[in-house]
Amino acid sequence: HSVAVLGAPFSKGQKKRGVEHGPKVIRDAGLIERLSNFDFSVHDFGDLNFQHLEEDEPYMDVKFPRTVGAANKKLSAAVRNAVSAGHTLLMLGGDHSLAIGSVSGHAQHSPDLCLIWVDAHADINTPMTSPSGNLHGQPVSFMLKELQDKMPDIPGFSWTKPFLSSRDLVYIGLRDVDPGEYQFLKSFGIQYFTMRDIDRLGIQRVMEVTFDHLLARKQRPIHLSFDIDAFDPSLAPATGTPVNGGLTYREGIYIAEEIHNTGLLSVMDMVEVNPVLGASPEAVEATATLAVDVIASSLGQTREGAHTSMDEIP
Ligand code: ARG
Ligand code: MN
Ligand code: MN
Ligand code: MN
Repeated sequence: HSVAVLGAPFSKGQKKRGVEHGPKVIRDAGLIERLSNFDFSVHDFGDLNFQHLEEDEPYMDVKFPRTVGAANKKLSAAVRNAVSAGHTLLMLGGDHSLAIGSVSGHAQHSPDLCLIWVDAHADINTPMTSPSGNLHGQPVSFMLKELQDKMPDIPGFSWTKPFLSSRDLVYIGLRDVDPGEYQFLKSFGIQYFTMRDIDRLGIQRVMEVTFDHLLARKQRPIHLSFDIDAFDPSLAPATGTPVNGGLTYREGIYIAEEIHNTGLLSVMDMVEVNPVLGASPEAVEATATLAVDVIASSLGQTREGAHTSMDEIP
């Protein structure tokens, strides 16, 4: 059993600079060292190298379409290769547009995967519904078969086509959903849990219903796409689009632990950590350390400690 780590220093899915340094600050927060305590081997594949395209005019209102398309094409192939080689993959972003490449590459190897999207945002805008033109608010619309006829041909994306059914997706943590996004969630009957739902049901019940929805019929690989802005901004301040009223530390860790306990986690994205947007070095470090904590819990760190054979105890 082995975990591969892949950095994706990319920021053109939105307009703020800094999120391309996410992989570095997450590594600097001690990621690889933390993972070395586990019973799997860690393969650090380093960071991908993304092309900067000079000529990349907006398409409709969509910013940097060719740059985002090319980066995701590259990421998609890297994720497919890592998963095909038998690794569990950890992808460090970068902005959330990278999920287009990460989930599509995963799906090429595992067409039956399901997707758990932990985020303040639904990221399911199309170029027509997007209020910002930022592709980090649109990745899910590239994946869903149900949205195929609502997606125009965006330059840079001819390499990918929709591969996911809306019933194979669950959102957790939503609290900032645009009007067009709300329509999609409702009309496709997507299973989602807003922060209000977590308030009402509790995170334990939310995870129970999530797995019931995705895994009851059959066990299949899980893709976890974790946007750090799912957490409350008091815990994760260094991010581009913070929204008040987010996950507590314990809710976030519980989500990660429960996903680990399925034994089905296959690929995990950790995105939107932006060190330039922290008000202080402490704010940046808190955000990056939180990302490492969620990663560690997703990969098997427990709060009750780990079993050790007696002869290892001094
Ligand atoms: N819904 C807004 C938009 O479409 C914000 C999206 C934020 N996405 C993110 N991955 N942080 O622009
Ligand atoms: Mn978000
Ligand atoms: Mn997101
Ligand atoms: Mn946000």
